[in-house]
Order: sequence, then structure tokens, then C-alpha cells
Amino acid sequence: MTRFFLTTAIDYANGDPHIGHAYEKIGADAIARYHRLRGDDVHFLIGMDEHGQKVEQTAAQEGIAPQALVDRLADRFSAMWQRLGISYDQFVRTTDAMHRRGVQALITRILDRNPDDFYEKAYEGWYCVGCEAFKQDAEIADGKCVLHPTRTLEWVEERNWFFRLSRYTDFLRRLLSGNPQFLQPESRRNEMLALIDRGLEDVSASRSRLAWGIPFPKPLSSGEQQTTYVWFEALPNYLTATGFPEQRGPAVWPAQLHIVGKDITRFHTIIWPAMLEAAELPLPARVWGHGFVLFSGERFSKSAGVRLDVDEAIARHGADALRYFLLREVPFDGDGSFTWERFDERYEADLANAWGNLASRVIAMVEKYRAGTVPHGVPDAADAADAEDIARYHAAMDGSRGYLLHEALRHAMACVTRGNEFVQSAAPWVLAKKGDDEALDAVLTSLMRQLARQAVLLAPFMPERAQALWDQIGGPGAVLDQRFHHLKDLDAEGWKVHKGDALFPRDA
Ligand code: MSP
Repeated sequence: MTRFFLTTAIDYANGDPHIGHAYEKIGADAIARYHRLRGDDVHFLIGMDEHGQKVEQTAAQEGIAPQALVDRLADRFSAMWQRLGISYDQFVRTTDAMHRRGVQALITRILDRNPDDFYEKAYEGWYCVGCEAFKQDAEIADGKCVLHPTRTLEWVEERNWFFRLSRYTDFLRRLLSGNPQFLQPESRRNEMLALIDRGLEDVSASRSRLAWGIPFPKPLSSGEQQTTYVWFEALPNYLTATGFPEQRGPAVWPAQLHIVGKDITRFHTIIWPAMLEAAELPLPARVWGHGFVLFSGERFSKSAGVRLDVDEAIARHGADALRYFLLREVPFDGDGSFTWERFDERYEADLANAWGNLASRVIAMVEKYRAGTVPHGVPDAADAADAEDIARYHAAMDGSRGYLLHEALRHAMACVTRGNEFVQSAAPWVLAKKGDDEALDAVLTSLMRQLARQAVLLAPFMPERAQALWDQIGGPGAVLDQRFHHLKDLDAEGWKVHKGDALFPRDA
């Protein structure tokens, strides 16, 4: 079985999950579910980034211990992922003992194998707590971090451990230019190559005066014990989740895919591979840098008051409708906007009127004309036309062109549109009236094959609704146990349909 270990970014434990976090987890979940339907051995890792100054500050503001804050937020995030149907296999927390041990083992390994990669340096510069990173002049506008304009930058003067990132410049350039799949989409790869060309500076690997973190395994020459810089310990979560330094964990390193937002692609495609190379460990196979969900064109910002409550969005039309909307509307290789109007429009047009209506009409006709049992039929032009869309669907999902989830959905929904056109043109009610039983059988069973395929194709995106449809059409077992390679032989003859509630009620 092909192993497919995929990860998302681990979210900062300093506030509730928002739609941006949700978008990334939903996208990754669709990819995980897609690979399970291919029959791959999937391991899907998500988790929480629980250390660092930002978490420490939020806990202090709330007057609680950092551990109490991160415990509460880990519960809130994991509960949100349940509500959204995120089928993760493992939830890593950077306060886990396994993670702490793994991070220290990784740093010790770098110290053993490439001792020159760490050196002490006095440093001064602007630190953005929002990014948890030192900022260079180009990243500062009007005295503020361009990514966090509502936060105040901190002037930091410290003596720290530094990681000799600059030594990996050629290695990284070769990695990114020689292996185009390592980082996709291409726009992100070009950004990273440009960054490398401008020159890589060494990065801080430890911080002083920060209690909330993992002790850096080696004290400074002064004897001062420092705390591992939060990014330097967060990135290794993907490795520590496998039980590193032993292979005791549920996942097996290296990962096949890291899914992260464009704001943190640099950490994943420059710092992380350099750390792994310094430790003489294998690199992840791919990184996908997705874009941002904007709210009516603006970036979300707690302090600027641009917010959108995920639970409110779920309550509007259900979790699967939200999953569909986000992945259909916001291209996975770029940015896109959430608006309530657009959400309602897509719900009505694509889900209630197109997919839901097709399902209810076909099921009702099988009940009415064939007493609920799907008749015999053989493949026809609709199967051939679907096969073309299915091929395009796979090309958008299987990684060969990256992860173009919006395109995959477009091709799956093209099958739905075709199904509706087919009902109109074949007019089963006319055939029934004429008593043309053979033709009616052929049409009904073709439509049932189409619905069954749609349930499987859309299951990665709308797992709960796909299963509801699967139940109504009387498909065998669970939709998630189906396999794509069986779709071409799929035959619904003999299935017993049961009309249930509307898949996408209009008044929801
Ligand atoms: N803790 C770091 C990641 C460490 S990974 C080793 C972090 N956390 S975060 O909570 O700020 O962001 C988590 C993920 O959500 C990131 O991939 C980020 O890009 C993504 N998003 C945050 N806001 C987003 C949108 N508005 N839209 C889409 N994704 C966005 O960064």
C-alpha cells in the first residue's frame, strides 16, 4: 500500500479557531479522504503550536497559566475539527512529552553531526509576536509588521544560539529549482527562489527570558540556559509525531505532504529542510502553500474587527455545505473571499437545486416506476462523459499538477449538471407514459450509476452528505470504503433506494 503521511500547520493556541484555520484543515481533509479512496495508507496529522511569547502573553492577559490556556484551546480546536468532519489520525501538541523529547533529540543530533551549525551571537532587531519572528526592514511598514499591522513590534537585544541557515543556501536553491514538486504552487516556489537569491541570513534558534517553551539542550558559554525559539521547535512537530528519535509513533517519517499557508511557506521550505539536512534526516516530499480566505476582500484580523464565526457559518447550511463552499470558492492555489451572499447563492444553486434536486428526482422515479429497486442497464454515453470529468478530477487532486481542489470540485459538479440535463432530455416520465420499459430501465439505471459516482467523487469534500446520499441510493457498505478504481465497473442494478430527507433543504 502506498503510504501517504500528510500534515497541516499546527495552529497557535492563542485564540479560537477561525475560518482561515478551518479552510486549511478542510482542504487537507479533502486530500486525506481522497487518498483513502485511492486505497492509500493515509496518516493525517494536525495539532497545536502551544509554546512561545504569543501564548505566554495571551495567558498573562487572561490571568491564567499558559498550560490552562493551551489545554482549553486544544479542546476547542479539536471539537471544531469534529464539527467540520476533519478525519485526522493524530493530534499533536507541542506541550506533549513526546514532542519535547523529540525536539531535544533533533537539536542534539544537529549538534553532534554538524556542530558548526549552531553558534552564539548577540543580536538586536524588531520582533513581531504575531509572526513569532524577527523582522527585516523590508517586512516593516510604518513601524509595523506588514502581516500584523495592529501589533506593536518589540525591540529585542539578546545573545542567542543561531542556526547557520546561510550555509544551506546552495542546497536550498538546488532543492527548490531541481525538484519543482517540492514546493507548489509555482508562484510560491518563485517567491522562495527570489528570497534565496536576495541572501539568507542565519536565524535565531533560542530565546532568553522566555519561560514558556522547551529548554535548548545546550547552555550558552555564559552558562545561561535558553528556551528553544518557537519556530525551531514547532517545525519538528511533523517529525516528533512519528516518535523520533525512535520510530515508535503512528506515522512514519518522512511526510509525503505538508500543507501550510502562504505566510509560513518560508519556514517550511527554507528553515525546515535546512534543519533536516543539518540533522542528516530525509526531507518531506512536498510542501503545498495555499492562499488566504479573505472576508469580503479583507484580511481577518481580531483587532481590526474583521471576523467571521465558524459556528455561525456551520449553522447557516451545515458543515458539509461550508466545506464545499470554501473549497469551491477559494482556489486552493490562491486567495478568495468569503461572503454570506455568495455562500447562500452557491448553496442554493449548486447544492440544493443541482445536486440535491437531482438525487431526489432520480430516487423518486426509481420508487415510482420500479418499486424502489434499480433495474438492469448497461454503460452508455453518460458513463463515457463522466469518465472524462473523472480523469480531470484526478488530475486536479492527485498531486501531479498540485492540489487544485477547486478544479476537482468543478469537474465533479460537471457530472451533476450533466445528470440534470440527462433527466430533462431523457424525460423518463414520457417513457413511463409510453410504456417503453426497456428505455426507462436504461435511463433510470444510468442515472443511478451517475449518482453513485457523484457520491464517491464528492465524498472527500462533503463526507456526511455523500454518505446520506449513499444510504438513500442503497449503495453497499459505507461510501468511504469505496475505491476509485472500482468506479468504472460500478453497477447499481438491484440496489434498493430509500427516499430520505432532502440532502440540502432549501430553508436551511
Ligand atoms: N503556529 C504557526 C504554524 C506552525 S507550523 C509548524 C502558525 N499558526 S497560525 O494559527 O497562525 O496559522 C495556522 C495556519 O492557518 C497557517 O498555515 C496559516 O497560513 C493558516 N491561516 C491563517 N489565516 C488564514 C486565512 N485567513 N486563510 C487561510 N489560511 C490562513 O502560523
